Amino acid sequence: MTSENPATNRPRCRSLMGVRILSTGSYLPEKIVTNAVLQEQMPECDSEWLVKQTGIRERRHAAPDQATSDLCIESGRRCLEAGLIDPSSVDLLVLATVTPDMSFPATASIVQNALGLNCPAFDLSAGCSGFIYGLVMAASAVRAGTSDLALVIAGDCMSRVSNPKDRKTFPLLGDGSGAVLVAAGRPDQGLVSYCMGSDGSGGDLLYRKACGSRFPPTPELLEAGAHYLVMDGRGVFTWAVTILSDTINDVLTDAGLGPLDIDLYIPHQANRRIINAALDVLHVPRSRVITNLERYGNTSAASAAIALDETRRAGLIASGSRLILSGYGAGLSWGTALWKW
Ligand SMILES: CC(C)(COP(=O)(O)OP(=O)(O)OC[C@H]1O[C@@H](n2cnc3c(N)ncnc32)[C@H](O)[C@@H]1OP(=O)(O)O)[C@@H](O)C(=O)NCCC(=O)NCCS
Repeated sequence: MTSENPATNRPRCRSLMGVRILSTGSYLPEKIVTNAVLQEQMPECDSEWLVKQTGIRERRHAAPDQATSDLCIESGRRCLEAGLIDPSSVDLLVLATVTPDMSFPATASIVQNALGLNCPAFDLSAGCSGFIYGLVMAASAVRAGTSDLALVIAGDCMSRVSNPKDRKTFPLLGDGSGAVLVAAGRPDQGLVSYCMGSDGSGGDLLYRKACGSRFPPTPELLEAGAHYLVMDGRGVFTWAVTILSDTINDVLTDAGLGPLDIDLYIPHQANRRIINAALDVLHVPRSRVITNLERYGNTSAASAAIALDETRRAGLIASGSRLILSGYGAGLSWGTALWKW
């Protein structure tokens, strides 16, 4: 069997049952930056335009002394507390981020130490798909028997890598972190179907050029702002609508289910228009779609994890609930999972 679904040219869907999400947690920095505040700092940024074109009303920014690890330590700690889990029983930490504290050591190692975990820990870079990638990696380890209790944390400080003078990107992004603990579950729990993919030919739609090994920082690069992310908003938008609806369709078809068999849709929170356009095609009632981007903007890897935690804490998820979780972004990369709770 090839790895590709010949009907779609995308990597085929797979299934991974017998795993469960034991608990969730999230953390958002305290500082709320409203559209009005942004407009004061950046007069060419139109608050009404933002609401109309994206749905975003405010976002959170990390305090000057907070880095990605600080956000992840807090969401991880809340996740452990919610599950009444002793840190010593966690045996794997997967941390998804594109804004690590430093190139190395891994942000995962900083978080492992702070949380008092005694386990392997590594960073995973998959843009806004990072949480879904991490969830699938953790579920795979649990199913393979190489982990009994895996902690997945997704966190980003996007305010640190976007240009505060660029009205086209800075207002869209925010800082935050979400976490889940994955353990063995009932045979009918887990990843009913999931798909993940990568298309590096679209890498120039969303990237951060400087400060890696190809373009180490120089005064000239910093002067030119090459350490800030660059995005072709229109290009990403068009791609995102298609990949979100197509991959949801892929997992539903693979599972033999229809859109109305899903209790809740928890997509990456980039833009309300992306979410609505993708889910309207599938005739998904808006009442089943979770959004929090109006409060947090796009928190990159963290967004679906934060939304999942808020949804669980609101009591909207019960044993047997079917959820669609999805992420899409830089890479280009994507991941969509049909999860049975
Ligand atoms: C970024 C995005 C909101 C822009 O919406 P759009 O309708 O495509 O708008 P455009 O980029 O074509 O810009 C239209 C105009 O609005 C302006 N504009 C952009 N941001 C603005 C703001 N905050 N305030 C006022 N005007 C703004 C642009 O400068 C442009 O004006 P111009 O033609 O004079 O240059 C949209 O493309 C999008 O959401 N893309 C995906 C972004 C994303 O979330 N990516 C993350 C990875 S998933």
